[in-house]
Amino acid sequence: MMKMASNKQTSYVFVPGKNWKLSLAEVAAFLETRKCQFKIADLSKSFFTLTIEEALEPSLIGDLGGIIKIGWVMSRLSSETVVNAFLYAKKQAQEEIEEELSTGYVADEAFKASSKKCVFGVSLYFEGRQFLRHAKEMQRFIGNYFKGELASRGVKARFMGFPRNRKLPQLTHVEVLKKGLIEKSAEILFCVGREQTYAAKTMAVHNPFEFQKRDVGRPVQRKIFSMPPRLAKIMVNLSSCALGKVLLDPFCGVGTILQEAMLAKAQVTGIDINPWCVRASCTNLAWLKDEYKIEDGRYRVLLGDSRRLTDKIDVDSVDCVVTEPDLGPALRHIPTESYAQRVADKLKPLYRSFLGEAHRVLKDGGKLVITCPYIRTRSGTFVTLGIEKEAEKTGFSPVYPIGSRIFANETPLTEDLAKMSSFVDIEERHKIGREIHVLQK
Ligand SMILES: C[S@@+](CC[C@H](N)C(=O)[O-])C[C@H]1O[C@@H](n2cnc3c(N)ncnc32)[C@H](O)[C@@H]1O
Repeated sequence: MMKMASNKQTSYVFVPGKNWKLSLAEVAAFLETRKCQFKIADLSKSFFTLTIEEALEPSLIGDLGGIIKIGWVMSRLSSETVVNAFLYAKKQAQEEIEEELSTGYVADEAFKASSKKCVFGVSLYFEGRQFLRHAKEMQRFIGNYFKGELASRGVKARFMGFPRNRKLPQLTHVEVLKKGLIEKSAEILFCVGREQTYAAKTMAVHNPFEFQKRDVGRPVQRKIFSMPPRLAKIMVNLSSCALGKVLLDPFCGVGTILQEAMLAKAQVTGIDINPWCVRASCTNLAWLKDEYKIEDGRYRVLLGDSRRLTDKIDVDSVDCVVTEPDLGPALRHIPTESYAQRVADKLKPLYRSFLGEAHRVLKDGGKLVITCPYIRTRSGTFVTLGIEKEAEKTGFSPVYPIGSRIFANETPLTEDLAKMSSFVDIEERHKIGREIHVLQK
């Protein structure tokens, strides 16, 4: 994933998926598990920058479930200059931007791979609504700058436009993939942070087709109950799973979490109470091992009741438990608060017995990443299981993946993030979402 470089620090831009807090938590857990020295500098919903001593490999994006793009920072300038250039239309500030980009040899770096004729991309990311009205103009300015630079090198270039209805001038990861921008030319990410603005070159984008293959392309599927592979990967990373670790999913269904853990080179065990699920997981894991050529991929799937996990699994034997026990019945309508509460109350005994058993099978320091239902109600509130107290009684401590240790500077936002040991994942259209807890023995 990473190779050691010189002691020079390198900066990268990360564009997270919709659930940016969860994406940030995943990146932090992934890098900390691998003992990387890094700090997050600029932080916003649309991008964050990360300074690290190791050089990151493009393949990193495939190891993460929550990151859409990773860019390598080529040059940076003051965001004040960007404000002056575009919000106040100051010519001098615009010239300063061009000058900064040319002294940083950004065009040479960005377009190393280009031939005499090329199509490239420019995407704009920013923090703050004040740029919204100017975003398209800013994107064209940056695009025209590079077009001019390329012309002066004898390259006939044009940059990609956007459909009229696109709100933000940002290429999607699929557009970058389909146009082959990374291999054939470049996508420039112009990212305006609170204090600094970064010109970065996209080095990797999320490949949804790979994730789709592991979802709808595997031999056995179960539409309603299985979880998206992207979320499974995020949860596996939050559990500090890595090469050689022992990971258990005691409610494994068709094996989505086990698949992502096997790709992380863990030794995986699945348990399910339903014999059909046990067979389905086995079939899917055998397929995965073959499809992804995981030579020493070790897995087993057992039939069992996870309320009595220790019947099947040795005490103190597991590094990571990652699981989704039961989110309750599929709801046709948004429920009333009292109905949602009844659903939650019915699930509590299962979670309670399981927490105790999970604690027993985990090694000291081992992590449990578990989803609980997060039920939307007609009154606009959400009903949850509230497992925190039960987990604490059982002996678990909360884990704070985005602690202040990972930030270069503390702000009110980083202070809030540092208190998070659970993450909500729910979309507007969903009646039930997930609350993902990260706990440690
Ligand atoms: C929400 S599904 C898990 C889905 C899984 N993550 C996947 O992607 O396929 C919950 C699973 O737990 C199993 N289950 C329910 N109660 C159980 C128990 N007491 N012990 C073991 N498995 C159980 C169900 O059969 C079901 O397959």
